[in-house]
Amino acid sequence: MKKIIILSLITLFFSCKKSNEYIPKRGLVTQEAMIVSAREEASKIGVAILEKGGNAFDAMIATDIALAVAYPYANSFGGGGFMVYRLEDGSTGALDYREKAPLASSRDMYLDENDNVIPGKSTIGALAVGIPGGISGIFAVHEKFGSLPIKDILQPVADLARNGFVVTEKQADRFKHNDSIFKAVNGKTILFSADKKANDIVKNEALAQTIERIITNGKDEFYKGKTAEILVKHLTEKGGIITMEDLAKYEAQWRTPVRFKYKDLDVISMSPPSSGGVCLAQIMNMIEPYDIKKMGHNSSKAIQLMVEAERRAYADRTFYLGDTDFVDVPIETLISDEYVNGRMGNFNWNKATLSSDVSHGNIQGYESNETTHYSIVDQFGNAIAVTTTINGGFGSKLYVEELGIFMNNEMDDFSSKPGEPNMFGLIGAEANSIAPEKRMLSSMTPTLVEKNGKLWMTVGTPGGSTIITSVFQTILNVYEFDMSMQDAVNAPRFHHQWLPDVVLFEPNSFPKETIKALQEKGYPTNEERTPVIGKVDGILVLPDGTLEGGADRRGDDTAIGF
Ligand code: GLY
Repeated sequence: MKKIIILSLITLFFSCKKSNEYIPKRGLVTQEAMIVSAREEASKIGVAILEKGGNAFDAMIATDIALAVAYPYANSFGGGGFMVYRLEDGSTGALDYREKAPLASSRDMYLDENDNVIPGKSTIGALAVGIPGGISGIFAVHEKFGSLPIKDILQPVADLARNGFVVTEKQADRFKHNDSIFKAVNGKTILFSADKKANDIVKNEALAQTIERIITNGKDEFYKGKTAEILVKHLTEKGGIITMEDLAKYEAQWRTPVRFKYKDLDVISMSPPSSGGVCLAQIMNMIEPYDIKKMGHNSSKAIQLMVEAERRAYADRTFYLGDTDFVDVPIETLISDEYVNGRMGNFNWNKATLSSDVSHGNIQGYESNETTHYSIVDQFGNAIAVTTTINGGFGSKLYVEELGIFMNNEMDDFSSKPGEPNMFGLIGAEANSIAPEKRMLSSMTPTLVEKNGKLWMTVGTPGGSTIITSVFQTILNVYEFDMSMQDAVNAPRFHHQWLPDVVLFEPNSFPKETIKALQEKGYPTNEERTPVIGKVDGILVLPDGTLEGGADRRGDDTAIGF
């Protein structure tokens, strides 16, 4: 009942107000530096590194691993992620520490003898695990940008694992919800069992020791050392195929981010193997010619325009996007004004375009061939946006007790069979088929935005296929609808991804008339299920140079700074 009243108030606030009545409710405002992440402990540990004189990259390493301790639901330790950065001098770049398919993987490994996808094989247990990139990622960051010794950065995180973190109500619910599947996959009760209640302290001594071995022996501990041996032994016993050779060969890769203009903003986002930056660029370029501000926030007209742009971008995602180390992705063409304007050519205000009538666009000469986000701005003017994942909540549910970590089920982000949906309902094509050492396509969209050449926002979110549309809506909420960062991340969201052809609305968050107006134009809608529509964390640079944090009300997310 309390939940319904809160949601109704939020709905009332966001839907009934006229723009001239809107008084922004600011999140935390600080003078110099800030971290917004999914857990207070992680934000705090990262900020303590900044206070010690460390930079955003030192803080990133601490925050990333602290999330593996205090937010085992989603982390990079047993999975991977992407970081987009902007240095104080304005130069930008991106790091890809996405998981890879093992050497023994093959295109049809999740199909039965009749070529049907075997349910659960790519999502649950050891065979679902991709080669983790998390530890390679933090060491690549440290090597290039780190300013403090790795021990100074990671010892506080090992201490957190040893001394314990406080279970929140949301976490206790998740442990309870997953208890039977944890037992089924691991054959026994694990540390994160149903008997953990809110406010209990969870101490993870195994993880403390794993982190301390990594402090002593560096990256090789995870990819070649004792930790690697424990991991491979455990995975093999559970039917997995990752070998010592797979681990030894893993390297994080520096990438060039996708960069595009939206009015007077410059948006810098993740390039393949994430689809995030390309899709965001396509969607924002498709709506740019329209006066969306005049249509009004979450008006049926604005939603219609955004949905039609999303539909077309996700159709292209399906066909064109994959790991650029393996397939040719025509990024420049896909995000060009000429191409995206052509894609909107058959958009009609009077009725919905059917997804069955939308395929990928034609590009001449093209040769076919549960996640978490944190944002950091430091006192030196460096900014980073990082999204990491083990894919599903608690990944494959496989818990390596000796190491204290959950392993990812990222193999499900490949297209197990072209045309068949994955756990997010996303359909893939040949570009995202499984091949040894290939990275699976992602939707993660860590994004930095400049306004008039200066840092303006760092933003991102978890949420599988809904990541791109949540980042999109949050940027528009601030830029077009003048919201504060906090209100922008809290605002109700909707999502469309081409197939299935349905507009998902956050339940009890949109006025009935808005949904009815869309239905009358032929838009199938769904607000019954509670899909994950992101949990956005962002930082906005205010006109006076101070920083405003937006920590999503949907989670335990926390902004901390000074
Ligand atoms: N595992 C979710 C994503 O990478 O998009």
